[in-house]
Amino acid sequence: MGHNRDYVIKFLRKLWELNRPYKGRFLLGVFFGVLTGMGQMAVLGTVLFVIGVVFGKTALAGVHLPTVPSWVPASIQANLGEFYNSMSDHASRSHVWGIAILGLIPLVVLLRGVVAYLNSYLLGWVATRTTCDLRAKLFEHLLNLPLSFFTGASTGELISRNNDISILQNMIAVSLVTLIQAPVTIITWLAVMVSLESKLTLISLVVFPICAIPISIYSRKGRLASANSQTEQAALSRVMLESFTGNRIIKAYNLEGVVVDQFKASLNTFRSNFMRVIRATETPGPLIEFVGAIGICGMFVYLMLSPDQNFFGLAVFTGALLSLYPPIKALTRLYSQVTQAEGATQRIFDLLATPNTLIDPAKPVPLRAAGAEIHFDNVSFDYGSKMVLHNINLKVNPGQMIALVGPTGSGKTTLTNLLLRFYDPTAGAVRIGGVDLREVALLELRSQIAVVTQDVILFNDTIRNNIACGRPGASAGEVEAAARHAHAHEFIMDKAGGYEAEIGEKGVTLSGGQKQRLSIARAILRNAPILVLDEATSSLDNEVERAVQVALDGLMEGRTTICIAHRLSTVQHADLIVVLDNGRIVETGRHADLLALGGLYHKLYNLQFHQSPGENGPPHEIT
Ligand SMILES: Nc1ncnc2c1ncn2[C@@H]1O[C@H](COP(=O)(O)OP(=O)(O)OP(=O)(O)O)[C@@H](O)[C@H]1O
Ligand SMILES: [Mg+2]
Repeated sequence: MGHNRDYVIKFLRKLWELNRPYKGRFLLGVFFGVLTGMGQMAVLGTVLFVIGVVFGKTALAGVHLPTVPSWVPASIQANLGEFYNSMSDHASRSHVWGIAILGLIPLVVLLRGVVAYLNSYLLGWVATRTTCDLRAKLFEHLLNLPLSFFTGASTGELISRNNDISILQNMIAVSLVTLIQAPVTIITWLAVMVSLESKLTLISLVVFPICAIPISIYSRKGRLASANSQTEQAALSRVMLESFTGNRIIKAYNLEGVVVDQFKASLNTFRSNFMRVIRATETPGPLIEFVGAIGICGMFVYLMLSPDQNFFGLAVFTGALLSLYPPIKALTRLYSQVTQAEGATQRIFDLLATPNTLIDPAKPVPLRAAGAEIHFDNVSFDYGSKMVLHNINLKVNPGQMIALVGPTGSGKTTLTNLLLRFYDPTAGAVRIGGVDLREVALLELRSQIAVVTQDVILFNDTIRNNIACGRPGASAGEVEAAARHAHAHEFIMDKAGGYEAEIGEKGVTLSGGQKQRLSIARAILRNAPILVLDEATSSLDNEVERAVQVALDGLMEGRTTICIAHRLSTVQHADLIVVLDNGRIVETGRHADLLALGGLYHKLYNLQFHQSPGENGPPHEIT
């Protein structure tokens, strides 16, 4: 219980922080909640008042009505009594008066309804706003986390955090209403009961501590089951996401049955967990009612044994006692719901608390990449386990085009990842124009680099927007000019819709080479002083590649370019060729020198151009 209580308090405090911008509406909602809580009693009071007035005081003879407290001045007491008497006189004399007074009952009920509506509406408004703010905050936070976070996290699970927020939203909307209404209702009914029959009230309350037992047991059960069912739900989203995005492979390898079976198995555990949640939420209520009924029986036994019995008063009292149960039930349900949402909230706040390991410096140094040298100064790096780069020392002069070559997995892409500061080096430093990248604002650094990534990344949007995201604000003419340079304009015009054609998720409606050309157009549009081309032309046929290469050569002019290629034909004219092997620079030099050296470059070159075609060398490349 202690753990739960701490959690609930912490939860409410966080909630309050999130609600803060909407304090005005929140407090107004709370105010209407208090009124709603007192509403039932107001209805009862009105009914009693109306009965007294219309049917005469004798109708209420047995009820121990609360008397006007003695501190009220005698003159007011007398006036009140007179007012009441004159009202009942009128009512008993004329039916019109009587009916008018009876009309008070629906009027009060209507008022109570309006107040209850405002209560739920305002608090619902606050809950929705608050959780939408939370969604936006979480999304922004996640988006700014470093790449290493995303390589470690599962996309499906990250997306299912949205579901966690929905749980939170429902709970906040319900909990705010219950949390305010229920205690007020309980207190007002208790006040009524005490004023009617104080001794009986005490007796009937004896049973309440017993109710705490089922509440505590079931809230713990509920919390565990709900934590499990939310994990299962995350697993379900992951399976779905993967099977929809990887649908081609699933179809090609006839994996439908296997995947569906996996999904159904996850669904089974999810279902049984969820049923456990339902049992844990719904069991305490009836149990409490049962204990309450025993309490009422006890009360009747007491009355049976006492001489002075009054049935009308007793009926009102029993009514009040029974009215205590719904709010108590609501509170216990809320308690178990809040503890069930513990997992969801915990996950959300944990994510929000994920520290960003790549933060902007407090006082960023301005960066001018144009005409500046890039320097990898004794850089070593690992992704968390094995070393991937060892003591890399490399200087790229401004305007130079250098080529990174080497076997697959040798660390070429990793080196460019460090230049874009997707990661920080484990040892050493990467500098542009003598400035350590860690001293530069990330936005400024990345705005000066255009990159064509090895895996082409396209958004489910139009062709135009996919290119234009290279430089937000670019004009239609500039987008088209970039597309022409990348030899993409022609195939774009062949598409129905041209530049406005939607390319589908990850560009499914395009061929590999077309996607690559869009990615190149995007980099051309960016017009940045540093250009990183990671296998930029690997999916193009020789003819198109040659044409794109001409465009790229034009683009490289005056820019510092780092070009990665498996096809050595594309890098022969580089100013400097850097050969990587197993994370180490093994050779550097120009094409002819490296060939003459007879080392790894020579070997790779021979594999591609003279021997039988390996995976890197289609036959037509053999010269
Ligand atoms: N996110 C990552 N987490 C852990 N290890 C990684 C990660 N990315 C790459 N690696 C490892 O780092 C090494 C270098 O990878 P890198 O992508 O730099 O190779 P590459 O030279 O670009 O290869 P390729 O020519 O196939 O593109 C590889 O051994 C790879 O397994
Ligand atoms: Mg690579």
